[in-house]
Amino acid sequence: MSTYPAGSAPRTAPRERDEAHASRVTVAGRQLATNLSVFWKTSRLYEVRNVAYTQALNNLQDSLNAMLELERVGFGLQVMSDCLYVNDLRLRVDVVGQASHQFLVDEFARRGLAGVRFSPGFDSNEIVNFSRQFLDWPAPEDPTASPIEIFEHKLRAQNVVHLWPIRELAVPQEDSENDPSQRVVARKSFLRAMHATKSVMLCARQGRRMDLRHAKRAVQSIVDLILSEELSLLGMTTLKDYDEYTYQHCVNVAILAITMGNRLGLSKQQLSQLGVAGLFHDIGKVRIPNVILQKPGKLSPEEWSVMKTHPIEGVKIIAKLHGLSSLAMRAMVTAYEHHLNIDLSGYPRLHRPRTQNLFSRIIAICDCFDAMTAHRSYQKDPFTPYEALHYMTTKLADRFDVTLLKVFIRTVGIYPPGSVVRLSTGELAVVVFPSTEDVAAPTVKLLRDTEGQACTPERIDLHTQVAAKGRRRVIVDAVRATEVGVAASELTD
Ligand SMILES: [Fe+2]
Ligand SMILES: [Fe+2]
Repeated sequence: MSTYPAGSAPRTAPRERDEAHASRVTVAGRQLATNLSVFWKTSRLYEVRNVAYTQALNNLQDSLNAMLELERVGFGLQVMSDCLYVNDLRLRVDVVGQASHQFLVDEFARRGLAGVRFSPGFDSNEIVNFSRQFLDWPAPEDPTASPIEIFEHKLRAQNVVHLWPIRELAVPQEDSENDPSQRVVARKSFLRAMHATKSVMLCARQGRRMDLRHAKRAVQSIVDLILSEELSLLGMTTLKDYDEYTYQHCVNVAILAITMGNRLGLSKQQLSQLGVAGLFHDIGKVRIPNVILQKPGKLSPEEWSVMKTHPIEGVKIIAKLHGLSSLAMRAMVTAYEHHLNIDLSGYPRLHRPRTQNLFSRIIAICDCFDAMTAHRSYQKDPFTPYEALHYMTTKLADRFDVTLLKVFIRTVGIYPPGSVVRLSTGELAVVVFPSTEDVAAPTVKLLRDTEGQACTPERIDLHTQVAAKGRRRVIVDAVRATEVGVAASELTD
């Protein structure tokens, strides 16, 4: 549940419906994983005409169709950190499915692939041909071509277009921004900050004494990363995991705020303080009953007044820390002020006017942006990053410090990471990083070619791209992923 009042809050939808959908996808996904591994194993043992082969193919096709009923625009079956996902939903493994699960994880890893994407319209021929080429993995005849490229070439030659490999690290190597090791470091820092936030919030929830040391260290590594390479972490903020959203929101706000603070020229120490303040701006929510926090739809006036106590509850929780440091004091002020609004029209109600602190003004902007683009548990149809930015700069502009809002746009770009954009070539792409030079020319990852077909997910820096004759790409429009048949799983790396 967002803490933005009715009228400005993102559209909401029943949580139960999403949970029911997620559990149906999980069941169908497990069945699909089992049937795919059985089919691939069977393919290695039997000829196409064998009855065992036909049976395994039929079973696979049934489970693919069942999944397509649930994910109508298509779906990716993919591996991340040894876990299997259908789109962005993790398939928690049960004992029965363990062997199939591991088989698929190993088979993809061996080929340097993250998984396979299924688009509506596939038939049994495509499944058979894809599987044959996959199992008969090519050794590079041409040393300049990678096995994955040869594989994709063979798929095209056999008209396989509705099943397509998902590359693990589809990144050109020359550009330091695209260096996988940087992305691995970014991911690790992100997860570490998530873990630290989670443990501090759990302590607060249980009334135990909080220890900020882990959080401080986690924030420190985020600050170091942002100082050394400003943009790699911004892409991480587009991850919206269903289970972990509460903590992710805090980490996202911290990352956005630190990146913005860096733009403003804050010192390293100030950036650390800003990051910790971002992590704990919503800590007061641990005192708000879950029935209110997770209520789908609008809150009643009574529930809303309880929700509005979270800034003050946050102050009380942080005040309990022993030997209040300036760090804790900063966090306390931000927890108190982050919903005040620049014109003091927000909450909590003040007895005497005050000026919203710089950190609070920064975090108010980052908080609103992340909440509006938040995950699907509470918002079936959240704002896209592009829409959220547009809404904030038009309908909500009075709430924010106008200058800081401009700095925020310079930080995330007009098309923030995660935005799906149409290029002047007719291609579709997702924004990965903003550009520090040009707000309208971020680095993007290609999703669809000019024909609308899945394509090699090449990364292009629209600002520094070398213009080939008539092929220089510019963004012409931001679109909704669902409206152009792009699955959520395609939007993250
Ligand atoms: Fe809040
Ligand atoms: Fe928040």
